Amino acid sequence: MSLGCQRDLFVVPDDVTYLNTAYLAPRLRSVRAAGIAGVERRDAPWEIGTEAFFEEVEEVRALFARLIDAEADDVAIVPSVSHGLATAANNLAVPARSRIVVASEQFPSNVYAWHTAGARAAARVEHLAPDALLNAIDKTSSVVAVPQVHFTGGIEIDIAAVAGRCRETKTALVLDLTQSAGARPFSVRETEADFVAVAAYKWLLGPYGLAFLWVHPRHHGGRPIEQGWANRADSDDFARLVEYRDEYRHGARRFDGGQKNSFMTMPMAKAALEQLLAWGVPAIHVALSAWTQKLAEAAESENIAVRPCGHMAALTFPGGVPANLPQKLRERRVFVSVRGNSIRVAPHLHNDENDIDRLLAALD
Ligand SMILES: Cc1ncc(COP(=O)(O)O)c(C=O)c1O
Repeated sequence: MSLGCQRDLFVVPDDVTYLNTAYLAPRLRSVRAAGIAGVERRDAPWEIGTEAFFEEVEEVRALFARLIDAEADDVAIVPSVSHGLATAANNLAVPARSRIVVASEQFPSNVYAWHTAGARAAARVEHLAPDALLNAIDKTSSVVAVPQVHFTGGIEIDIAAVAGRCRETKTALVLDLTQSAGARPFSVRETEADFVAVAAYKWLLGPYGLAFLWVHPRHHGGRPIEQGWANRADSDDFARLVEYRDEYRHGARRFDGGQKNSFMTMPMAKAALEQLLAWGVPAIHVALSAWTQKLAEAAESENIAVRPCGHMAALTFPGGVPANLPQKLRERRVFVSVRGNSIRVAPHLHNDENDIDRLLAALD
């Protein structure tokens, strides 16, 4: 069954056309309620048992794993994509004079980590357009770091083909799926990347300050950035915390960031992931793709160029985006972002066809 508009589940006022999930997710009512309940829970620390530092974290780890067809043991919970990608860069072999390949004009979190790793190893970092990526992956490349969908909207990278080429050439693959996970079906089993990072606050509809890092089991013996107490074996036994241990908790948990068990953000992430799984990522993708397709068709009859790319679309203008356009749209309560040379339109299930009309009317 196809998913209709779910506006009642979101905190978006009637007069707002919010088309900027790729910037900050619209707020689900359930996520808001979970955050408020978390703040209130923290008001009574005497009621918070030591299990609170671990149990919900494990639930959230398992929920995220389901979303990307992974095992919970392979998921680390980190404060940001940058943190997750620093872990990736610290744990992948980058031989001197090898080549690190990144997608051109990619979001900086998946670029600076490689500039640093490249400089450390005297390796070259190459910034390549999506259509040049495949040919660039060969025996001299050590790492490929790319998204599935470009953050400016409207460009998709054929991850399956990139992953296949990486396997053939023994090149490590690092994915930043912040602009696609939750809105586009993805399976780590099919992709076999080395590391996959996703921020929670966009298409995962979750809180700010939280991200996930999927780590291939071949890297589970790697070096974490932080040496946090909670990542060590048996750290749930608070009475024995100073019986210091060299062993870590199982799987990717050694890479978890400190204070991950926030009493506010963890329940919010749980509520968001539960809602996404209840809808189903394939159904979300179908609904959002139908919306961007309708936008493209309606825009064509108004002579506005829209390039849909599944859950996002890019509006392009012959001479670039007119300087005052975002401000004019804001005045009409239509919210989008300018990224690169286009306006990025990033809807979610709170949007319906009225929002298409309001966007086009505002552009007129
Ligand atoms: C593709 C992508 N990755 C990552 C981020 C956020 O990175 P970080 O969690 O390091 O702040 C964004 C934010 O816009 C993004 O678009």
